[in-house]
Amino acid sequence: MFQRTFLILYCLAVSYVIADDYVVSNRRFPKDFKFGTASAAYQIEGGWDADGKGENIWDRSTHLYPEKNSYQNGDVACDSYNKWEEDVALLKDMGVNTYRFSIAWSRVLPTGFVNSSNSAGIEYYKKLIAALKENNIEPLVTMHHWDIPTYLEDLGGFLTAEMQTWFVDYARFLFENFGDDVKEWITFNEPKQTCEHGYGSGALAPNIQGPGTKDYICGHNLIIAHGKAYRLYENEFKAKQGGRVTMVIDSNWFEPASDLDADKEAAERNLLFTYGWFGHPINFGDYPDIMKERIANRSAQEGYESSRLPTFTEEEKAIINGTVDFMCVNIYTSSMAAAISEPDIVPLGPSRDLDIGTNVYQPDDWEPTVTSWFKVVPWGARKLVKWISDQYGQPEIIVTENGYHDNGTVIHDLETRGRYHKLYLSNLQDALYLDNVNLTGYMAWALTDDFEWQYGYNIQLGLYQVNFTDPERPRTAKDSAAFYKHVVTTRCLVEESECVD
Ligand code: NOJ
Repeated sequence: MFQRTFLILYCLAVSYVIADDYVVSNRRFPKDFKFGTASAAYQIEGGWDADGKGENIWDRSTHLYPEKNSYQNGDVACDSYNKWEEDVALLKDMGVNTYRFSIAWSRVLPTGFVNSSNSAGIEYYKKLIAALKENNIEPLVTMHHWDIPTYLEDLGGFLTAEMQTWFVDYARFLFENFGDDVKEWITFNEPKQTCEHGYGSGALAPNIQGPGTKDYICGHNLIIAHGKAYRLYENEFKAKQGGRVTMVIDSNWFEPASDLDADKEAAERNLLFTYGWFGHPINFGDYPDIMKERIANRSAQEGYESSRLPTFTEEEKAIINGTVDFMCVNIYTSSMAAAISEPDIVPLGPSRDLDIGTNVYQPDDWEPTVTSWFKVVPWGARKLVKWISDQYGQPEIIVTENGYHDNGTVIHDLETRGRYHKLYLSNLQDALYLDNVNLTGYMAWALTDDFEWQYGYNIQLGLYQVNFTDPERPRTAKDSAAFYKHVVTTRCLVEESECVD
């Protein structure tokens, strides 16, 4: 039945592929390629105060500032706190070998401190992990996906260096409780978003504003927290648990607006200020030179005594240097970057954008989605993973998120979401086979529709639709779920008869 449905759906999709003048690869992905889907606790679990869970910054933001979150919240979300077995069944049916999910810090440690351990929360994740493993699905676990306990936020959150210790204590707690079964750990998801929008623009919880200052302080503490958690694992757990630790970094691909050197430099500068902000410290022990130079120069002109970008001590550099066992990237879209003359100095209004000092835009003729900043640019994915590979010495790379925004009403999404995954996967396969990028995995975001942060439920990316008005939160397969099932079971993007090894 599935095969027949797929064939019909596949034929519908072909015209898009040809129209792009881009021929989708018919090669199979390697046998051990990790295919999975990804999720985050706050976006799917619900049960926001169930069984002793503590409040986190998203509970607080959605309850206190509903206007910042589309007047919606994750109190129930997909109810995965109760319906996790159904989610595992969907994963099993899809045939994935990996599931990326996050642990809600405040569910296992309600205050955030290790002396507040919550057995019901621990039990929840133990059952989930056991069920995944029984079905041969490896857990890829994020420790922090944007939801620190409010207790810790009230003590300073990522703006205080104490966060480094709190996070390492939490990491130890996770390794001790789950490390026998979890072999791949992600310390932080998308730190750029946590810092730039949690503590810079204020668009995301904890909704603090401090562009050009607090965002960099947040990043600094977060990077050191990551480094210390990595060293903890390396020194005390790796020998007996045998796992790996990494960080997930998001970035657009930035395409030079022209062949002029200045535009090429503008594009490179954006990549270094975006991926390199976190990628360089955990690989090389320090921020990219261009970040250090530009922020120091502009800070001096603005009248600051020292750079707005904090400096790592020699000891911190040694801690963070080389703290990544494989690289991860979340890829959604791309931008063009053009050189401009140096932006004016605005003493009271620094920002990361001004520090970068380029013109970033998306051309009108790039294919739009429902979200203003999100255009469909499959070739950018290939270039981005190649850039990461070149920058960091051909490391293993996993695409830990990739997915398509719509308004959540479309079940027959083969020509939109299905085509998006197909074209991005094909371009990523080109990176793997034609550019020698050591790409070992791909996690589609997301298994189910979910609470999409400040957009609430108005934007969706799931392979399964969730009816958020029904107390039972029923899941319904979209056409893209059938397509992705075909991909993971055949390791191929086209009709099975056309696939070659
Ligand atoms: C990245 C974030 O990690 C995830 O939580 C979010 O839902 C997706 N982007 C989709 O926008």
